[in-house]
Amino acid sequence: MTTYKTEFQHSIERPESFWAEQARRIPWFTPPSTILQYDEQQHARWFVDGELNICHAALDHHVEEGRGEQPAVFWDSPVTDSKRTLTYREMRDEVARVAGALRRLGVEKGDRVVIYMPMVPEALMAMYACARLGAVHSVVFGGFAPHELAVRIDDAKPKVVVAASCGIEVERVIPYKPILDDAIAQSEHQPDACVILQRERQPATLGPRDHDWAALVAEAEPADCVPVKGSDPLYVLYTSGTTGKPKGVVRDTGGYAVALHYSMEAIYDVAPGEVFFSASDVGWVVGHSYIVYAPLLRGCTTVVYEGKPVKTPDAGAFWRLISEYRVKSFFTAPTAFRAIKKEDPDAKLLEQYDISCLKALFLAGERLDPPTFHWLDDLLDVPVIDHWWQTETGWPIAANLHGLEPMPTKAGSATVPVPGFDVQILDREGERAHAMEQGSVVIKQPLPPGCLTGIWGDPQRFHSAYMAAFPGYYLTGDGGYFDEDGYLFIMGRTDDVINVAGHRLSTGEMEEVVGAHPAVAECAVIGIHDALKGQVPVGLVIPKDGFEGDEVALEQELIDKVRQQIGPVACFKQVLVVNRLPKTRSGKILRKLLRNIADGKEYGVPSTIDDPASLEDVHEAMKERDVGAAHEARQV
Ligand code: COA
Ligand code: AMP
Repeated sequence: MTTYKTEFQHSIERPESFWAEQARRIPWFTPPSTILQYDEQQHARWFVDGELNICHAALDHHVEEGRGEQPAVFWDSPVTDSKRTLTYREMRDEVARVAGALRRLGVEKGDRVVIYMPMVPEALMAMYACARLGAVHSVVFGGFAPHELAVRIDDAKPKVVVAASCGIEVERVIPYKPILDDAIAQSEHQPDACVILQRERQPATLGPRDHDWAALVAEAEPADCVPVKGSDPLYVLYTSGTTGKPKGVVRDTGGYAVALHYSMEAIYDVAPGEVFFSASDVGWVVGHSYIVYAPLLRGCTTVVYEGKPVKTPDAGAFWRLISEYRVKSFFTAPTAFRAIKKEDPDAKLLEQYDISCLKALFLAGERLDPPTFHWLDDLLDVPVIDHWWQTETGWPIAANLHGLEPMPTKAGSATVPVPGFDVQILDREGERAHAMEQGSVVIKQPLPPGCLTGIWGDPQRFHSAYMAAFPGYYLTGDGGYFDEDGYLFIMGRTDDVINVAGHRLSTGEMEEVVGAHPAVAECAVIGIHDALKGQVPVGLVIPKDGFEGDEVALEQELIDKVRQQIGPVACFKQVLVVNRLPKTRSGKILRKLLRNIADGKEYGVPSTIDDPASLEDVHEAMKERDVGAAHEARQV
């Protein structure tokens, strides 16, 4: 661990010197003279006086350096039976025109643009076009319903929304334009214009404020890169918190560029000219960092895949992509491999492909369960690397530093803290836990470059959600421990956030929707284990006194309501009408206890991905043990 240890120590003991060195790897217009500064609340701000443009650093710079004819993007879309390669030069020119088109619609530095698009190259172009103008993009994942889109539109107040006419889920066409129209009808804030990418599978009818992407871009004057400060916002990405209102994570420009570039070398070990494939979606942080920005900052080629790990056309899709595009480093969520393993348990489909180009497999987004780890580890000749991070940090907090000093892996562990992240485990009193002792996983201030700099429009929430619990530390919301070798084990969230198929969701938000139904007196939503998706939500509902309707019909109504309000991504498909819920004496629902029931920590409900808890298990545990009564008694 000597190289790692030296680098890690440097990053923690002399962060300014460490990050000043890394910052030299990025093409600034004006290099920063101030490396680290603290704001009035003592939060770190990196490279505040440096000037750059991330679109310039990721596209123009590489063209200027002679990389113009190298592919920047391989787009592969089995759902539309299409493929497309875009060189760095083509991407730069196209992005400059899209930026010009947005400028014609009034978008300038600091304005927000909401992007609601599937996995098409135009989604990357729209993001880079915003960056080119110094505008702030906010990408919303396609699986969210109109209401969720409306909440984000009202919070970000975009001047323009960029969307596609439709998305394609395996064989199903999802019309995005009616979702957008519905969202705008629900939102108070009204964007000036919408730009719609018309897709052949289902073009949309355009209204008075809509512009056709192709026509608008064809007429546009290319726009140059607008210099921005290192600390200027690049994007706002909404993520689930413990309450119904999503948090708009604000990412700066300079710190993010420096951190991503460093990670491509130290963690993912990819060099300019090599191919990096992250199978996520532009709507999530993994998509922002490792589909859109990091690969191109590093001069690599990024694979943009519009399809699923299975059924497009089969469970060999990832193997084909790795082989066809000569992918060196591949990144996805464990749930994707659970889906593949289910369809092709002996990995017969892998035999059809030469994946000798692959040098490492990275997994994140949820805990890498040991059965999936072992299946992959036995199957592949390359390191299978679990690494841990979150929307807020923008890049990995703990990983096996494959590019710096590879270490032996341990099932269930994300290996060690990444340089820059002073990860500690604290007990309830804020004391440092010993090895093997579980506690809250926190990061000592300052957070390194690349991490969130605030919550959009809500500085108070930034402080209360992350910084208030343990002064001087950032609260990750995860629980875990270090083992005797300094390996970090992340055991799951300590709050009401759940992780469904690698997608982060708030049970609090679902409770707000369920609780608003006129027949519901009280409710709780918890995550229970699921063999494929890791966790799925389950609603526990007490109807109002005198409710005489059909319980099954009520359950279905609640399922439909969550799907309509939050969207299919919530995977809210199970509701249980119960007589009572466990409560404190003051009447608060004991959510932690419910979580423990679902996790099998109480009352013997099965708990692993191999042996998931079912709705019946939860019901039995609640009914037979009369959980409510038992715990009320315990409080007395
Ligand atoms: N637009 C519209 N609808 C979408 C969507 C999108 N972009 N993405 C998902 N949905 C819909 C799905 O069609 C599904 O709808 P349904 O309830 O009508 O079937 C629902 O949202 C749930 O989607 P998902 O949880 O993704 O389930 P799935 O069965 O479609 O796929 C996996 C399961 C595991 C194959 C898939 O989630 C996956 O590949 N995940 C891993 C990669 C990943 O994206 N990780 C994120 C962070 S790294
Ligand atoms: P998101 O913000 O959507 O990326 O989700 C972040 C959350 O996912 C983290 O706080 C963890 O709870 C979970 N997570 C992500 N990666 C891992 C991992 N490698 N191991 C365990 N949990 C993870």
